[in-house]
Amino acid sequence: MDIFTAMKERRSCRDFLPEPVGMDKIEKILEAASWAPSPLNLQPWEFIVVTSDGVKKKLFLEAKRCIKWAFDRSGWDWLEKYKADFLQSAPVVIAVVGDPRKSGVDIFLEEGGIGYQHGCAAAIQNMNLAAYGLGLSSLWFTFFEKEPVREILGIARNKTPIALICIGKSTGGIPQVPRNDVMKKTTFIT
Ligand SMILES: Cc1cc2nc3c(=O)[nH]c(=O)nc-3n(C[C@H](O)[C@H](O)[C@H](O)COP(=O)(O)O)c2cc1C
Repeated sequence: MDIFTAMKERRSCRDFLPEPVGMDKIEKILEAASWAPSPLNLQPWEFIVVTSDGVKKKLFLEAKRCIKWAFDRSGWDWLEKYKADFLQSAPVVIAVVGDPRKSGVDIFLEEGGIGYQHGCAAAIQNMNLAAYGLGLSSLWFTFFEKEPVREILGIARNKTPIALICIGKSTGGIPQVPRNDVMKKTTFIT
């Protein structure tokens, strides 16, 4: 598949079929992640592949708790309808875990190092595109608190759960979410 087609046609999926994802595809998605760029090639990522219904349910309940917390705080109506069921229905959820020590030289900046987050984000987008290229759909999910997710997945305190990537087959076509005109967001300095 042409890379520009993949980038344009990939959609965030929130409704998955129960059909399992083969290990061959999971391995290809992980391999795609590993080819992402990262600061000093430190490869700040680790992956936890979850197919256990029990563990997916715990992740779902944590997301629901966060949604309720955000609703109580903000009063934003749309949050009441905000879904997180895909954490249970997706056949595979891959947790991307970052190592803050693998941030490259930006660890010396006053704001602290965030290079590891950039590296993990690059890996995640590779995963999204690889999944799409393999006929699957995915969702980049971040609406959770780090500590409970560390506990659920057995992640050490010095590592950071960056995102949960839900992967599987979509139940149907997903409408395109429009983008702003990139030229209106671009400045050329010549
Ligand atoms: C860093 C990041 C965090 C996101 N977190 C969530 C999330 O918590 N829940 C969710 O449903 N979608 C989440 N998304 C998906 C976005 O909502 C989605 O990419 C955006 O609406 C554009 O839609 P598209 O991916 O179908 O083009 C996230 C995307 C990114 C890049």
